[in-house]
Amino acid sequence: MSILPYRPEFANESPYGAPQLDVPVCLNVNENPYPPSPELIADISRGVAAAAAGLNRYPDRDFMELREDLSAFLERESHVHVDPANIWAANGSNEVMLHVLQAFAGPGRTVVSFAPTYSMYSEYARDVSATWVAGARTDSFELDLDEVRSVLERERPGVVLLTSPNNPTGTALPQEQLIEILDIARHTGPEPGQASLVVIDEAYVEFRRDGVSSALELLSDYPYMAVSRTMSKAFGAAGLRLGYLAAAKEVIDQLTIVRLPYHLSALTQAAARACLAHSDQLADQIAKIREDRDSLVEELGALGLKTVPSDSNFVMFGTFADRHAVWQGILDRGVLIREVGPEGWLRVCIGTPQENAAFVAALKEVI
Ligand SMILES: Cc1ncc(COP(=O)(O)O)c(C=O)c1O
Repeated sequence: MSILPYRPEFANESPYGAPQLDVPVCLNVNENPYPPSPELIADISRGVAAAAAGLNRYPDRDFMELREDLSAFLERESHVHVDPANIWAANGSNEVMLHVLQAFAGPGRTVVSFAPTYSMYSEYARDVSATWVAGARTDSFELDLDEVRSVLERERPGVVLLTSPNNPTGTALPQEQLIEILDIARHTGPEPGQASLVVIDEAYVEFRRDGVSSALELLSDYPYMAVSRTMSKAFGAAGLRLGYLAAAKEVIDQLTIVRLPYHLSALTQAAARACLAHSDQLADQIAKIREDRDSLVEELGALGLKTVPSDSNFVMFGTFADRHAVWQGILDRGVLIREVGPEGWLRVCIGTPQENAAFVAALKEVI
């Protein structure tokens, strides 16, 4: 019996985290494999040095310049104008999502998603003492509208989390389905007359295939929808810790209530603005990663393996009677991928062409 006043609900919990192993090829956490260019590194250094000169002062707690830059980026990337006042940001989309749940879930409220999906969501729900409910996806990992309707009408969630493209499956949510889900969610909030807040987690959306749209296009029609994004994936800035969200002003106002004072450091804001100023250079990199993803899907198919259609920078493949043995065999050959998702499947992230080749070579040996 410990002297510490442990919270009983945390008794069997352990910290979340993909293994961080020192291996030659890391394809396990869906990062962009290309490091920042020397020009970007120089600009980050200049921006951070200028911010450091004022480090005796607290940062701009409303991060207005960063919001303007994020707004300009969204306009370029998705051709949707989102006013800077409709943008929120925090230390990774992990923190953005925690703010959302602190503001709209909490004790007595329910958070709903559809499994398999990003494994952190249940932990955010736990951390705000909300009830977590995961409905099911179809056998091809898509959303089923009857299931969505029945779970939302039964649970009356404060927040619904939909990931598009989904992690770990890579599956995007078609716009027509999203519209139907939004129509359902209009009436399923915790109290009569309230909607559920529907959050579309678009962490990987920049990798979507042609013809797949962003939920941002619907933002102005649905005040109870929010779209979350991150600079950790396509932006190649996972180490920066900058996630952001677009939503109605009323949503942003609630997030402002729960955020810690000055949660975004002046250094983070400066580095993020430097990265955003270079975002035009990302297009070629993203195109290359998408091309390499599609080639990898073909190679996996040629090996007789199943893959799930991916709009992301990773591919779920399988199935294996003993996936752990396959994962371990690949790791023994110096390539770390992720043992995650439904039984029998594994997930690999797209690396450089050399890393992808190392993965395929290791996989061939193992199977
Ligand atoms: C679906 C999804 N959302 C959010 C995140 C977290 O991103 P961030 O680095 O912005 O906290 C991840 C990271 O893997 C993810 O897969």
